[in-house]
Amino acid sequence: MSIIFDSNTKTFFLNGKGITYAMCICDNGYLSHLYFGSSVGCDDLRYTHAVGRRSTLATPPGVDKDSLSYGSFSPELAFFGTGDYREPAVMVRNPAGDRLCQLLYCSHEILDSKPAIDGMPSLDGGQTLVISLKDALSGFGAELYYTVYDDASVITRHAVFTNSSDNALTLDRAYSFSLALPTRKYDVLTLEGSWASERSPQRTHMHNGVISIDSKRCSSSAVLNPFMAVLSRNATETHGKVYGINLVYSSSFVLKAEGTENGDSLITGGINDFDFNWMLGAGERFETPEVVIAFSDEGIGGMSRAFHDAYRNHLIPKNRAFESRPVVINNWEATYFNFDTDKLKAIVNAVEGTGINTFVLDDGWFGKRDNDHSGLGDWYVNTDKLRGGLSEIIAHTHAKGLKFGLWFEPEMVNEDSELFREHPDYAIGAPDRPRCYSRHQYMLDLTRKDVRDHIVRSVNKVLAENEIDYVKWDYNRNVTDKYSLCLPPDRQKEFDHRYALGLYDLCERIVNANPHVFFEGCSGGGARFDPAILYYFPQIWTSDDTDAEERTRIQYGTSICYPLSAMSAHVSAVPNHQTGRTTPFRTRGHVAGMSATGYELDTTRLTDEEKKLISAQTAQYKKHEQLILRGDLYRIDDPFEDNFFSEAVVSKDRSKAIVLVYRTLNVPNAYAKRLTLAGLDPNKTYHIEELDITAKGSTLMNVGIVIKFQREDFTSETYYVHEV
Ligand code: DGJ
Repeated sequence: MSIIFDSNTKTFFLNGKGITYAMCICDNGYLSHLYFGSSVGCDDLRYTHAVGRRSTLATPPGVDKDSLSYGSFSPELAFFGTGDYREPAVMVRNPAGDRLCQLLYCSHEILDSKPAIDGMPSLDGGQTLVISLKDALSGFGAELYYTVYDDASVITRHAVFTNSSDNALTLDRAYSFSLALPTRKYDVLTLEGSWASERSPQRTHMHNGVISIDSKRCSSSAVLNPFMAVLSRNATETHGKVYGINLVYSSSFVLKAEGTENGDSLITGGINDFDFNWMLGAGERFETPEVVIAFSDEGIGGMSRAFHDAYRNHLIPKNRAFESRPVVINNWEATYFNFDTDKLKAIVNAVEGTGINTFVLDDGWFGKRDNDHSGLGDWYVNTDKLRGGLSEIIAHTHAKGLKFGLWFEPEMVNEDSELFREHPDYAIGAPDRPRCYSRHQYMLDLTRKDVRDHIVRSVNKVLAENEIDYVKWDYNRNVTDKYSLCLPPDRQKEFDHRYALGLYDLCERIVNANPHVFFEGCSGGGARFDPAILYYFPQIWTSDDTDAEERTRIQYGTSICYPLSAMSAHVSAVPNHQTGRTTPFRTRGHVAGMSATGYELDTTRLTDEEKKLISAQTAQYKKHEQLILRGDLYRIDDPFEDNFFSEAVVSKDRSKAIVLVYRTLNVPNAYAKRLTLAGLDPNKTYHIEELDITAKGSTLMNVGIVIKFQREDFTSETYYVHEV
């Protein structure tokens, strides 16, 4: 890893794992992008400038050559008003009302370690380049941060906007980055979805014009993940160039892929400016969220592995990233709100000796919470339901050798709650306007410090007074009625970003005060599955859809960007509560066992046979868990396209692998399924325990193995492969 500045060509070269990112300072100070992709030499790349091309030319002030039109260069941070008609990354309103600025090179610095972003989650890292740009007339400036890594083919970037003038400026747009790419003959891949069908890949051709995805919900959302990949039209899972972009952000975002008149493209994004502005007072700075940009010339799979490495090594809490994960039994689908202490004890008792090691008490233990109409915000135990309070069920769980987890939804309040009766103003909403319900609840105004202080106090009190080992942090609705009583009228458009800052503050203060607690994120399933949440919580509930057949697609789509260890997945009862479908217990275990695994069913109804299966599944999971936590993922069969879903997770030293192969429907007189493995060392010899096959990696990856499925629908096999 190295960051080099060639003073002859005024070019910066950022060399990371197999990648180079290059940009140069033009004669007038304009910062021009040169290259991003596979590693290249530190050569003079300025010949790539499209000098002389007659796009919609405008000669920037202070430049006497017609050929220098910003519109024909590739910007590192596109700005507005000087002849570049592509999407600007920044729009600043000056005191006179004009939106003009010209951000030119001022200085640069190479730091030994990557500074944290104030109040926001970000990856850690080493050597970091900071380039300062300035508008000479207004005192408006930008600092661009770039970090490269030895162990992941990504760069991280963000921008900080500064105001060194004596007047307040207004940011109408403050994106995190611009990324120029050399052609517009790409496809754009995004992850779309909804409740119970999160993160399905969708792919479309890029064209002249803008393809844009966003969220306006104060949440990253299940509808569109803050992820976009731009890839060669012929790129596949295993071949071709892929540029992946993922925002470390949990509030309203936008990502845009623009095909330009120059035949190239410009990718931009960050905080959604749809309903945004920010007052930047004299002397103030505005930090934007981080973006992680991955490159792979080994197709979509290579890009996924780059993100997985980056997140496991540099984002997910260090003490948790590679730590063995709790194997939970969660009571939600077993009881919903209908439980008491005896019922919970019985659920715990029934898993004794199965390898399940954590009991998670879900929604309904607090306030007056017998259904989802009341109680949110009242974080004290409901002793009508829990005789003996929390302490009795916790003591019982611990006595049985299990850890204890508890559900919270800290950002919410019900109208029917003590909290709302006492502090109706804590809920988001405009005075004198009725608020919208969603799941019968309101959201708390996290932009307010007093509201956050209250939440931190009440959640931390429960955690301090009880021996709680695990917290599931849920978030079941999105914002409406956006208005904060504490922001002046001209700053109301700061709401969405201030909500994100408030959420991060909350997470920081609750996680830091409880270092012994393992946190899991959740949002009505997997509706807030993003890198910012992974900075605080090592895993996230992937979806409320626990049906194994559906989960093959949801987990496949989620793995496009996020590591398997970040996804929690449970074996649940059949007929499945979301789909009514019945899948074999064995298959449910196989599918859930390819990520952070657990169970969510009424264990008091398990047959002896099912209990034996759980013991076998948890033992198998423990055997391959280090692969899930550290291994390289190779997706083989795509469940969106085929009757099959298969994937292999291979250890970094290529000595071990776990392989899952799943078939949706049985077919009479079916031809044999041949599965060619991936990611192995072609020269190593491996043994596959379940098939008793010993063969070279090259054989297993070219000739493949033959799968003998059981004679049923929704069936699966797993194989443990190890070097001999
Ligand atoms: C939504 C979550 O995704 C579920 O797992 C469960 O915790 C419910 N909320 C509880 O209200």
